Amino acid sequence: MGKKVTLVEKQSLGGTCLNVGCIPAKTFLRSSKLFHECQQAAYGVRVTSPQFDMLAVVERKKKIVSTLTRGVAGLLRQAGVETITGVAKLVARNAVEVQVQVEEQRIEAHNILLATGSRPAVPPIPGLRPEAVLDSNRIFDMARIPEKVAIIGGGIIGLEFACFFSEIGSSVDVVEMLPRIATGTDEEIAGRLLKTMERQGVKFHLSAKVLEVSGQTVHYALADGTKGSITADCILNATGRSPVVEGLGLEEVGVDFTAKGIRTDERGKTNVAGIWACGDVTGRRMLAHAATREGIVAVNNMFGKRDRIRYDGIPSVIYTHPEVACVGKTEEELKALGIEYRKAMVPMAVAGRFLIENEGASGLVKVLAGAKYGEILGVHALGDGCSEFIVAAAIMVETEMCALAAGEIVFPHPTVSEALREAILAVH
Ligand code: NAI
Repeated sequence: MGKKVTLVEKQSLGGTCLNVGCIPAKTFLRSSKLFHECQQAAYGVRVTSPQFDMLAVVERKKKIVSTLTRGVAGLLRQAGVETITGVAKLVARNAVEVQVQVEEQRIEAHNILLATGSRPAVPPIPGLRPEAVLDSNRIFDMARIPEKVAIIGGGIIGLEFACFFSEIGSSVDVVEMLPRIATGTDEEIAGRLLKTMERQGVKFHLSAKVLEVSGQTVHYALADGTKGSITADCILNATGRSPVVEGLGLEEVGVDFTAKGIRTDERGKTNVAGIWACGDVTGRRMLAHAATREGIVAVNNMFGKRDRIRYDGIPSVIYTHPEVACVGKTEEELKALGIEYRKAMVPMAVAGRFLIENEGASGLVKVLAGAKYGEILGVHALGDGCSEFIVAAAIMVETEMCALAAGEIVFPHPTVSEALREAILAVH
């Protein structure tokens, strides 16, 4: 847009996703999956005594993260963005003060975009001290394979790590205070994921609220009052993430926020003219791809190009093995909204490619469409490969495409995506 831009970052370019989130997690999961497959001696391939070298996996992760952060730095340089390593704070509606080592620098701007992200939440559980309990920021530098892992929280982070540790041979217990895992995900799909992961050896304790951590033991209470405990050599806190709203000068400048995030409208505007926010700090959808779109929307609106974010068509993925990929409304949401819908569910195995790529695995694709016009309202899938085809479903949800029209789209053969096509044909 030809504007003069300054970016202030206190740690590493790329934020959570690149440094301690999506990218490291998927790097770990790639290695654990390969290791697990080698052990299964599946696909007609026999590997003698495969070893999981934790240090080498951490090294590989470091290399990938460093390649990507250098790439981001290069892109910023090419675009002429001035990058300052320091800590920024709002001091007026058009100014920030940046602490660079011992010096302070004032930057004035017509527009300020807040994108400070989130950090692992620390719930008020006695004994949840950093020395005893790891969080998703620190777990990526672990040097050895733990024998027993206790994970507090059966949300996305908890499930992805449960999969990783279970695949590399650790015994894994997940303690989740709700009666189900992966809240927000379609209940039927989450239920199938739970069963699959249980079969893989992960132990789930549902409706179990963690009350205390003492030493290496997690104490929890079930809904009926029964108490239980798990002793593990690695305890992971995966109870959510909190937006980083402290120390930004929000109160001083009058920006409306709570501990759940900075309030923004669908254009990324805060209540203060010239101050915008995007990403996890808004507490809306804590997903890197949602943040990217929110950032673009905010910048477009800064300079007079009308744009708004629509959350319905934003897909989400849980990168467990099997993966879960979803977009649009869940059945529970449709019921709560009183929207009448049709439903079709097909096994992933209808796609020959799924059978080829996923020995011994099962999965399914569920399509939800409006009862009257057949517009695609939601697609929910379980099974490896679904993270790559969910974008096709996102386009259908975003454009309110009818199942009849979607059924005319030609899907490449043989691909796992053909299971989506079959579900669409079944729903119209
Ligand atoms: P989450 O909100 O998904 O799950 C936290 C879970 O912890 C909840 O199910 C909650 O009921 C449970 N919990 C809270 N307190 C508890 C207690 N005292 N005892 C037992 N259980 C308790 O949060 P999570 O998994 O930490 O992820 C944080 C954010 O990061 C999410 O918004 C997620 O979308 C994002 N993320 C996205 C990924 C992806 O897109 N693949 C990967 C990792 C994170």
